[in-house]
Amino acid sequence: MTRSSLFAGVALAAGLFAATLASAAELTVGFSQIGSESGWRAAETTVSKMEAEKRGIDLKIADAQQKQENQIKAIRSFIAQGVDAIFLAPVVATGWDSVLEEAKDADIPVVLLDRTIDTKDESLYLTAVTSDTVYEGKVAGEWLAKTVGDKQCNIVELQGTVGSSPAINRKKGFDEAIAAHSNLKIIRSQTGDFTRTKGKEVMESFIKAEGGGKTICAVYAHNDDMQIGAIQAIKEAGLKPGTDILMVSIDAVPDIFKAMADGEANATVELTPNMAGPAFDAVMAYKKDGTVPPKWIQTESALYLPDTAKEEYERRKNLGY
Ligand code: AHR
Repeated sequence: MTRSSLFAGVALAAGLFAATLASAAELTVGFSQIGSESGWRAAETTVSKMEAEKRGIDLKIADAQQKQENQIKAIRSFIAQGVDAIFLAPVVATGWDSVLEEAKDADIPVVLLDRTIDTKDESLYLTAVTSDTVYEGKVAGEWLAKTVGDKQCNIVELQGTVGSSPAINRKKGFDEAIAAHSNLKIIRSQTGDFTRTKGKEVMESFIKAEGGGKTICAVYAHNDDMQIGAIQAIKEAGLKPGTDILMVSIDAVPDIFKAMADGEANATVELTPNMAGPAFDAVMAYKKDGTVPPKWIQTESALYLPDTAKEEYERRKNLGY
């Protein structure tokens, strides 16, 4: 056999193998999910299951209970099981290189979902399906600057999980958007860990520190769940969220539309929970014929306001996630 016919044979065999694998029924994907800290996260998990089922993919989900060490363990377990691909929603941005090298050595493609990582070696993952989280912060900040106009406005900020890419980037984007407006000032900023409970607790402490909340003009929350917690805290303090204090956040979960329809929130920036659909498609194409997806599959980030809140709430609550 000549060298070229040997290559052709190997290529044909590889092609047949890939074609067989590409029939999604035989694909097994391990998903290291962060946990269920927010309504958005729960929706992402549900949508991932729905998208896997649509394509006949066997999806194994490991809930890391917000801990990076659990995510690392889950990835190692997926490698040991010989899955066809690994999805990772990284709780924090740093500390992934060595476990992702193990996946790479095992020839298992990794797709990052909804959050990014800090690494010098981009070959450690096939693609990242995420929104532009800096842009989301910018959209929120620009909306606030426009709404406030020339008025003096003291902002309190509820940050996401410390060290996570959306917390870092949503802060950056918002800071950039308000930088040119000297009347807008962040007077307090603290993490609420993307949860409703912590969002409420932190907002209570802000209100206490700010003379009962009267000096606060706006709340910028890195996600809707913390904002819902803040809304509760503001109401309990005897103030009107959405009127006395402007409320802008990110995610576009059904509950924030309900709050907007009730006049208790003013704006949200949408983050689609369907990260898995494009990720499955990328993995299937890669397995089928080696198609390499772009390094970043970007999802959209649209601004939603109270004018469409009632219909959006009705529509979204019936989506099943
Ligand atoms: O990474 C996406 C963020 O994580 C969502 O905005 C937040 O709700 C979630 O917990």
